[in-house]
This record gives sequence, structure tokens and C-alpha cells, in this order.
Amino acid sequence: VGHIDDVQELRKDRPSTIPDRYVRDMVERPTLDTVPLSSSLQIPIIDLSKLIKGNKDQSQSELLKLYSSCKDWGFFQVINHGIETSLLEAIEKVAMDFFMLPLEEKEKYPMAPGTVQGYGHAFVFSEDQKLDWCNMLALGVEPHYIRNPKLWPTKPAKLSETIEMYSSNIRKLCQNLLRFIAVSLSLIQDTFDEMFGVAVQAVRMNYYPPCSRPDLVLGLSPHSDGSAITVLQQGKGSSVGLQILKDNIWVPVQPVPNALVINIGDTLEVLTNGKYKSVEHRAVTHKENDRLSIVTFYAPSYEIELGPLPELVDENNPCMYRRYNHGEYSHYYITNKLQGKKTLDFAKIST
Ligand code: SIN
Ligand code: FE2
Repeated sequence: VGHIDDVQELRKDRPSTIPDRYVRDMVERPTLDTVPLSSSLQIPIIDLSKLIKGNKDQSQSELLKLYSSCKDWGFFQVINHGIETSLLEAIEKVAMDFFMLPLEEKEKYPMAPGTVQGYGHAFVFSEDQKLDWCNMLALGVEPHYIRNPKLWPTKPAKLSETIEMYSSNIRKLCQNLLRFIAVSLSLIQDTFDEMFGVAVQAVRMNYYPPCSRPDLVLGLSPHSDGSAITVLQQGKGSSVGLQILKDNIWVPVQPVPNALVINIGDTLEVLTNGKYKSVEHRAVTHKENDRLSIVTFYAPSYEIELGPLPELVDENNPCMYRRYNHGEYSHYYITNKLQGKKTLDFAKIST
């Protein structure tokens, strides 16, 4: 992370300057194609407590809602998810405390090119590639062998233990959601649990400083996630920043207090043979406000071979993806720049 490439430092020295490397080409700028925030177009809200302990009618109607959320949106917010508000606040606090440390401290954990672990910019492979208006701290969490202990910051002191606690709670949530997702597809509820082996879990904290020209830059380039599912926590009091591409327009995701945003990743799109879609999304910045997001990626173990589930392939739904090794796919994902849904080309059957 060179001085100029750190957006927080850049703002300190020259708060109103946007270096060329951050200025997007006209077609990528986050302007006219975004629906206004006042629009009623919103991603669905799923009440997990209704799925878990609602009466038969409640759980059935929530399951239908889950089905249409995954099929038509690829995104939803989950409420009554069972994770304590105090834990959500604790992870936000350690994340924010980390980003507010001096650069020399954060630079002790540099993200190496072609990896997504440590502090810096991920997915950057050439000098002329545009940079995102964002600082990231990314860490592999489970299973332990994917961890790089040298990249786990020792400051703030509570960072590691808070990530451990947070991640184990989020892991249970992911397992729960995948059970209901399986049921929503008329699959046996343990389908994904059994298939995934010891699931891979990674956490990424994104800090978006304010930007004097939010019309010129992107907080995070458009992409779909490589995970099976992703859990995204939007910082309290953060401005709106996440947008998802729905029918060719960018729809902002309005933060709902204490809700978690869930989205379908490429892996689940493949497994469901395209029935559930990994939807392209991006982050935009704000003139006065900063924004924090804490993102967990949940995916199969690297050695697992994947392909569309036979139950979801028939004459009307011909097989759209080949079989492949999930580790190879993950490697492909992290060694290519974020570019819409391009990463799924890895798995597409060419016709
Ligand atoms: C992400 O897609 O990883 C993060 C988007 C956000 O900050 O809301
Ligand atoms: Fe994402």
C-alpha cells in the first residue's frame, strides 16, 4: 500500500483531489442508472424466527418468500437472526478502531498481490486498473489452515477474539440459512451441509472514507461473490452505499437496524443450475459520511467437486455449468479483477 494508494491518507493530505487512478470511465460512474433512494423498490426482508419457530402457515409463507427472494433478487435482509446486537456492535467497534489506526500500524499487515488477506486493495493486477475508494482488511477464518496468523492485527487488542466470536455466530447462521434454502428448493435439508465438507469462511471489513466527488469514483467495483452465500453487516449510522443490479438498474440497499444482508454467491448459482442467482453489486461513496461494512463469505471446502445438482437439471432446465473443483474456482476468483459476473465464465458450459 503506497501512500497515494491509501484513500484515508489521501484525504488527509489533499481532501478535495481525486487522483486519476480512482476516476472511473464515464460508463462506470455511479450516476444516472441508479434508482432514487426514495423509491419503494427494496430487497425483501426475511424473518428467520418465522422459519425456525413460526406456526405452519407462517413458516410456509416465509419459505415461499425466501424462494422468491433467492430466485428474483439474489439478495435479502434477514431479521430476528438470533445474533446479539452487542456482538454486531462489538465487531463494528473493533473494525472501526482498526481503520482509525495510523497507516504505519495497518501496513504491518500488507495484502500481497493476488491474495485477499491483510490490509490494502484486493483484485488489483495492473497499473492502469482503476482503484476502489475503499480500504479493506480481509482474513481467512475457517478452517484454521487457511489462516495467515501473521496477518491478524494485534491492535486493537480485542480484534481477534471478537472476530472469533462473531464468525462462529455467523457460521451457525449460514448453516441455518442453507438448510432453509435447501428446503425452499425441495431438497433434503442437509444437502449443502453434507456436500460442503468443513466449509471455508472468510471475513472482509471494508472502510469507505467520505469522497469529495462520489459521482466520479466507486467504493467497490461491480462484482458477484464467489461464495455459496455471503452475510453483510452494514455499519450503524453508515450512509447508504451498497447497490444491487436489478433488471439493469442499480437499486440501493437501505440499511435496516440490526438486520443482516444475505446474498447468493456464484457457487450456489452453479449448484442450483441458475435457479438462484448471484447478483451483481457494487458500493458507492458519500460526500460527507464514511461507511463501514463487514462481510462474511461462506463456501465449500476447497477440495470439493461441484456442479449443478441433478435434482435441478431436466429437459426444461438444461445443465448450464460444468463440474469443477471449488479450490480451483476460488483461485481463479481471487486472481482476476472484479468485473460484474465474469468470474462465472469459469464454470459456464460454452455453447
Ligand atoms: C461487498 O460486496 O463485499 C461489500 C459491499 C458493501 O460494502 O456493501
Ligand atoms: Fe460482494
